[in-house]
Amino acid sequence: MSKGKILLVGFGPGAEQHMSYRAREAIAEADVVIGYSTYIKLVEDLLGGKEVIRKGMTEEIDRCIEAYDQAKLGKVVALISSGDIGVYGMAGPTYEVLLQSGWSPASDITVEVIPGSTALSACASLVGAPLTHDFCSISLSDLLTPWPTIARRIDAAGRSDFVIALYNPKSGRRTQQIVEAQRILLQYRKADTPVAIVKSAYREMQEIQLVTLDKMADCKIGMLTTVLIGNSSTYVQEGLMITPRGYANKYNAITGDVKDGERAGRSLTMGLEGWKACVRKYMRDSDAHSLRDVARHFDVPMGEILSAIGAASNDDGASEYSSARVNHENLAALLDATRQWGRLRAVVRSSAGAVSELMINGDEFQRRGDWLAIENDHFHLHIEWSRVAAAWFVRRGETLRGVHFVDAACETVFNLSLLRKDGAFDKIAEQQFEQSWRELSM
Ligand SMILES: C[S@@+](CC[C@H](N)C(=O)[O-])C[C@H]1O[C@@H](n2cnc3c(N)ncnc32)[C@H](O)[C@@H]1O
Repeated sequence: MSKGKILLVGFGPGAEQHMSYRAREAIAEADVVIGYSTYIKLVEDLLGGKEVIRKGMTEEIDRCIEAYDQAKLGKVVALISSGDIGVYGMAGPTYEVLLQSGWSPASDITVEVIPGSTALSACASLVGAPLTHDFCSISLSDLLTPWPTIARRIDAAGRSDFVIALYNPKSGRRTQQIVEAQRILLQYRKADTPVAIVKSAYREMQEIQLVTLDKMADCKIGMLTTVLIGNSSTYVQEGLMITPRGYANKYNAITGDVKDGERAGRSLTMGLEGWKACVRKYMRDSDAHSLRDVARHFDVPMGEILSAIGAASNDDGASEYSSARVNHENLAALLDATRQWGRLRAVVRSSAGAVSELMINGDEFQRRGDWLAIENDHFHLHIEWSRVAAAWFVRRGETLRGVHFVDAACETVFNLSLLRKDGAFDKIAEQQFEQSWRELSM
């Protein structure tokens, strides 16, 4: 008996011209073709003389089991899927079924995954060039994924300024997911952010709408639609949705000349190496900002700003600021040292924006397991000390002597600063602070 074979075929968006050569060849080679009935219809012309097994939409695992059973009979089986079979497609479930049944790549039945053009690239090609910079895809289907997971991903993609492709955006029963996605994204993106809604790309019923984010959820969207949401640089011109590749950051778009300060073939001045210098330049050039203003301007956690300040040199300073890092192993000693810093202002912010400022003494802190607490008649302060990963000493001219305790994501958990009286720090407290800086910072 000849050896069985499973060909996992992604046949692209639907039109024959967009099917890969290998996908066509694989279908031609197959004895049996298995697929969702709509997909079978799309490749009907290629199926003459073959055994065809049509399955319903919910029978995904059935399709995998059937493919394995047929391959065990020595047949060449093509399991077909639109787009790319590995993108929200049948490749994953098939491998899972095979592996759970004891199959291994060394066994008699060979498996080949044949990639195809996925919906996001097919849809993008019809509206211009919306995916020319970092993008991600998120499926809004909550049939197998809990909504909090989906919402968290939308939030992270929105915050991170990814261009976003939404697969499975809406169905007869799932109508509110797209409304929620819009609500989350409008926290981070402008209402007029371009959105392309592409239905049935490269199929007979193809339909394209170019709209804006605030209108997205009101548009006609269905099961065969992919939604492409632009990032903060995406624009529409002459009916084309374009996301710049980023060249405008470095090159003059008209002359092609490299902009001042940038070098062809090198990271941008705001690349990984250069951006700390940019932070310091911003602090020098702009009117004296608070550290929080600077962190907000660059949309990064406070620890990143303190780290940029800490990397300053004599001829590349951060205005009046200086900083130095305290590593995790010195945190307990640092907390102990604060006892000598006199009266302190402790600032704690809630993630929703409420700010508590408390006047305390360092010796009021008590360690209780993972927590740091101060309890008195006026307030109870509880800080999850185990979240603190490092700290940053910070000075600003004659106005600030303090320390930020930061978590692993570089966000400030709380910060302490020395209080001034009549515009000056207490001499002894300031000396103790400077001594702690020398002894405990890197
Ligand atoms: C289960 S996923 C399958 C994705 C497919 N494997 C791919 O790579 O394109 C189904 C979703 O893909 C998107 N989709 C598939 N084909 C499409 C097409 N021709 N036009 C627009 N969207 C499409 C829609 O968002 C649809 O809800």
